[in-house]
Amino acid sequence: MAVAEGLAKTQRGNSFLSSSRKMLINGEWVESASGKTFPVYNPATGEELIQVAEGDKEDIYRAVDAARRAFEEGPWSKTTPNVRGKMLWKLSELIEENADTFAELESLDNGKPCTVAKAADVALAVELFQYMAGWATKVDGRTMQLSTPDTFGFTLREPVGVCGQIIPWNFPLLMAAWKLGPALACGNVVVLKPAEQTPITALLLGELIQEAGFPDGVVNIVPGYGETAGAALSGHPGVDKIAFTGSTEVGRLILQAASGNLKKVTLELGGKAPNIVFNDADIDAAKAGAALGIFFNQGQVCCAGSRLYVEKKEFDNVVGSLVDAAKAMKIAPGMDPACELGPLVSDEQLDRVTGFVNRGKEAGAEALVGGDPVGGNGYFYKPTVLTNVNPDMEVVREEIFGPVVVAQPFDDIDELARQANDTPYGLSAGIWTSDISKAHKMASKLKAGTVWINCYNVFDAHLPFGGYKQSGIGREMGPEVIDHYTEVKSVCIAL
Ligand code: NAI
Ligand code: MG
Repeated sequence: MAVAEGLAKTQRGNSFLSSSRKMLINGEWVESASGKTFPVYNPATGEELIQVAEGDKEDIYRAVDAARRAFEEGPWSKTTPNVRGKMLWKLSELIEENADTFAELESLDNGKPCTVAKAADVALAVELFQYMAGWATKVDGRTMQLSTPDTFGFTLREPVGVCGQIIPWNFPLLMAAWKLGPALACGNVVVLKPAEQTPITALLLGELIQEAGFPDGVVNIVPGYGETAGAALSGHPGVDKIAFTGSTEVGRLILQAASGNLKKVTLELGGKAPNIVFNDADIDAAKAGAALGIFFNQGQVCCAGSRLYVEKKEFDNVVGSLVDAAKAMKIAPGMDPACELGPLVSDEQLDRVTGFVNRGKEAGAEALVGGDPVGGNGYFYKPTVLTNVNPDMEVVREEIFGPVVVAQPFDDIDELARQANDTPYGLSAGIWTSDISKAHKMASKLKAGTVWINCYNVFDAHLPFGGYKQSGIGREMGPEVIDHYTEVKSVCIAL
């Protein structure tokens, strides 16, 4: 008997939590080969939510075999692009129909506000699958006039094959969508490993994938730990491509594991984004943007605006407003409709954030607000604004992945650009100014995969997302992701 019965409000949500969940291999919901399960916790209370089948090497190998068969022999190999597109669209509709269930399960599993899960995570997942449904019929090669006499050349864009996809816990459903959407649009097959902290919505998605008509073995979902199931997937010699979102540290391990059979690799890793406010900005908009940039999703966002730079004249004004915003936030379990800041995902993440801030304070940083956990059983951490920092401090250099921002004043634009880029990361950046020329010049100076000007955290299925430097390899979403899920075959004909 799971403890979670009665926590969800929808019928499907409740029945989903009423027994332990299995893994999806070859179109069947099965126990793990070892028979083992692992616990998933409700971060708002620290109580166990549910037990989930614990995948390991043997399960991954079975899943890869099933995927390979589906790719080479099954009906999927003969499915036309328009049918793939229809299935993806159908899947988007099924997610929309189950939006309340997805939102509440995501909230119970990850901790985020249920309202935000519905408006952001679920809505963006729906849009992503719809966008990728459109791509299914538009993946073309080109024809060429070659300089070799009496020849004709053309290219085909073919699916890469078996894709291993390893996703994190901060946006569990949305990260599954970002990975599965383009893979399926291009005709690939997938073994997906959700994060051990948050496997639930990926498993519900698996049910809908079956309802949408994807043939058996096309999508296999194997929950489990990173060091076991994740490592087995990234090292498997029969996997053609690995796509990963998570820590830079594990990104390096994946790259090494992928070197055995030289898998294609795309990585979406950490960040330490500068969010830059100039004196001439719409200051009210910038204030809201500074708060959204760091407190959205409890700060557990790879593109979070975690380094706030404010031009001197407005520094006290903007930072003061951020402190007020932090104080006003309603901290509550994600299922509370009034919740604005939920718990962090796990006790491990709470310890990590607590450690970073404590070491920062020891090094001389001043917490204007927050600076410690809320206390109690849940994994809540207070929204925190740190000042009095210098560029060498750990809190300025490392990704904290919690609701913690370091605020620094600036007065010289060239020095600011140097500081903003003084990081191994390069995922995103924010600029707030009403001077269009300054905005363009600054955007081109910043070494980041996404630059938001007078906005923050805007995600769109047509806007590619990914990192410069150690924030990753490749791009997700947009037309760019299609390149990462296709191989180019050049065909040359002697006439
Ligand atoms: P992680 O990188 O360990 O976990 C992400 C995924 O990788 C999970 O599915 C996990 O099971 C898997 N994984 C872990 N070790 C693996 C291995 N050896 N081989 C294959 N897969 C493996 O991230 P973690 O430990 O949960 O969080 C640590 C830090 O990573 C966070 O504080 C944050 O700074 C960063 N992070 C960044 C994310 C992003 O969106 N870029 C998401 C999650 C974490
Ligand atoms: Mg880890």
